[in-house]
Amino acid sequence: MLPYGRQTLESDDWQAVYRVLQGDWLTTGPLVEQFEHDFASNVGCGHAVAVNSGTAALHAALWVAGIRAGDEVIVPALTFVATANAVVYCGGTPVFADVDPESLLIDVQDVERKITPRTRAVVAVDYAGQPCDYVAIRALADRHRLVVIADACHSLGACYRQRSVGTLADLSCFSFHPVKPITTAEGGMVTTDSSEWAAALQRFRNHGIDSTPRQRQLAGVHYYNMVDLGFNYRMNELQAALGISQLKKLSRFTRRRNWLAACYRERLEPLAYVEPLAQFPDRSHAFHLFVVRWRTHLAGTSRDEVFRHLQQQSIGVNVHYPPVYRHSFYRRIAGDQDFACPQAERAYDEILTLPLFPDMTRVEVNRVIDGLATATAMRTQAA
Ligand SMILES: Cc1ncc(COP(=O)(O)O)c(C=O)c1O
Repeated sequence: MLPYGRQTLESDDWQAVYRVLQGDWLTTGPLVEQFEHDFASNVGCGHAVAVNSGTAALHAALWVAGIRAGDEVIVPALTFVATANAVVYCGGTPVFADVDPESLLIDVQDVERKITPRTRAVVAVDYAGQPCDYVAIRALADRHRLVVIADACHSLGACYRQRSVGTLADLSCFSFHPVKPITTAEGGMVTTDSSEWAAALQRFRNHGIDSTPRQRQLAGVHYYNMVDLGFNYRMNELQAALGISQLKKLSRFTRRRNWLAACYRERLEPLAYVEPLAQFPDRSHAFHLFVVRWRTHLAGTSRDEVFRHLQQQSIGVNVHYPPVYRHSFYRRIAGDQDFACPQAERAYDEILTLPLFPDMTRVEVNRVIDGLATATAMRTQAA
């Protein structure tokens, strides 16, 4: 099976993890600190705080931003459920904004329409790896005194107007799940320029306690204080060792992903029924995902038919994502509120994620293109 995404692990990555297993510290220790330091210098932000998933990163960011019961947070309708779930974890209400039909990034005008006196923050998702329009989002947030949080789980390695993802919002959240730009198996990071928020994030990932066992051991003290309610969201040393090693390869991985995306674009040019998403000239793309829209009226077959056709050929296409408010849980909590976002609905019927990962080859890209081309002939053959 050609998967839609896959990690690239090399012998230096394995060695890095193996060395940790031979040492004394397995959980939060010097390598977590080093990974945070390397990550902050890579993106060019003040502070990076490591956690054990992208979901934990979102939960921690929303919590330190002050989201509590009764607050509304605007999130795009087209994202992984974790973006909205993190708002619910804080007792807040996610309010769904529609997406721009060309890029599937959050529609800033719709965000403005959805603002109420209870809105406290907006979470911008860099869908597929392309940064959102942070200048427009910042201007809107300043007018309405909102916190801007970037869900950058797809976009590590990308830039917007020469500024790296991780420096574009008040708080930015990353995931190191295996299909993401770099991996620590599971893992996440929050970046911010605020020292106060960084300290609160460090407490939040450690039960709300004001020091770590390692800090106490180094200082020769036993006393600690639990300042706030927190969670066990700590990253461990095995994950951090892998993260340090993977981060060194980020620019190579990003270049390769962009090259593969260019190969796809070139081969898709003659296929009028397959349309890649828009790419904006003022930003670079991390290409976590290569998403196309399948034009059923031109192809003569539906997106679900092409999905099945490619799966049968062992090509692991995917669909990212159903609009979040369509899930039963969100329908239940919505009551009589109508969240419908027409562009997200339309996109959901047409989108298809094609395989893309650093070790993929041009031959495999051609295999996917051939699969797409034969999908249009399916009805004719069946007849
Ligand atoms: C947009 C988005 N946000 C959040 C997450 C959650 O990250 P994790 O799986 O590391 O918890 C993901 C991961 O799939 C994601 O794609």
